[in-house]
Amino acid sequence: MVPGAAAGAAAEAVAAAETRLERASALAAFAAETSACTLCALAEGRTQVVFGAGDPDAKLMFVGEAPGFHEDKQGYPFVGQAGKLLDKLLAGIRLERADVYIANVLKCRPPGNRDPQPSEIEACEQHLFKQVALIEPRLIATLGNFATKLLSGRPDGITRVHGTPREATLGDRSVTLYPLFHPAAALYTPSMMKTLEADFARIPGLLDAPAADSVGPAMEVPLEEPEWREAVASGTGTAGQEPSSSPEEQLDLF
Ligand code: URA
Repeated sequence: MVPGAAAGAAAEAVAAAETRLERASALAAFAAETSACTLCALAEGRTQVVFGAGDPDAKLMFVGEAPGFHEDKQGYPFVGQAGKLLDKLLAGIRLERADVYIANVLKCRPPGNRDPQPSEIEACEQHLFKQVALIEPRLIATLGNFATKLLSGRPDGITRVHGTPREATLGDRSVTLYPLFHPAAALYTPSMMKTLEADFARIPGLLDAPAADSVGPAMEVPLEEPEWREAVASGTGTAGQEPSSSPEEQLDLF
């Protein structure tokens, strides 16, 4: 490398390191602020706010639904069964948690792991939007219906849009949204695992070429109320086994 180019590269590396430090410290300050949040009633029942975890400078961010029992106790997202599957899926594309950032739509656990309510999402979304603004990911993988609908601003259910990247503007930035089935859904319904793995396999390509090509498999099944939370929370997730419910009931998951 010629001396001028070397100096330029060094200056770029220093600037990148500074940005990384600034981002990390801004995110830590925001986490501290958020830890006392009382914007919705979930504050009353929580052990702690589950802010999010990972690389503040991540190019890839995952957004799940809400903390469950274990997340509430430990203070980190996706530390239960669904989290173990997420780790496995990440390993399948040669990534680990430290390479990405993981957060949820809600930062506090809904009682009994029930669905997030619209008023809770409305109160909490500002935290997620600010996280996204600070981290500036290139690609956001939305896990399940709640994250997908919130960040896309569209009503389309996850069974219709999973595996289909789409460009979106969040704040003043353009980002690729990539909807995926929630890992808990695949735990509860093992036949979904292959779909989730296939959708995950596209992530490295999307990170290299983030412009969404908006082509992807469209698998349409009816959407109803999810039931996997109780199964996962109670440790009765059925990864590797046939679920006991009928196919119609299984579709409730998605
Ligand atoms: N754990 C999380 O942190 N989020 C989910 O959506 C599910 C489990």
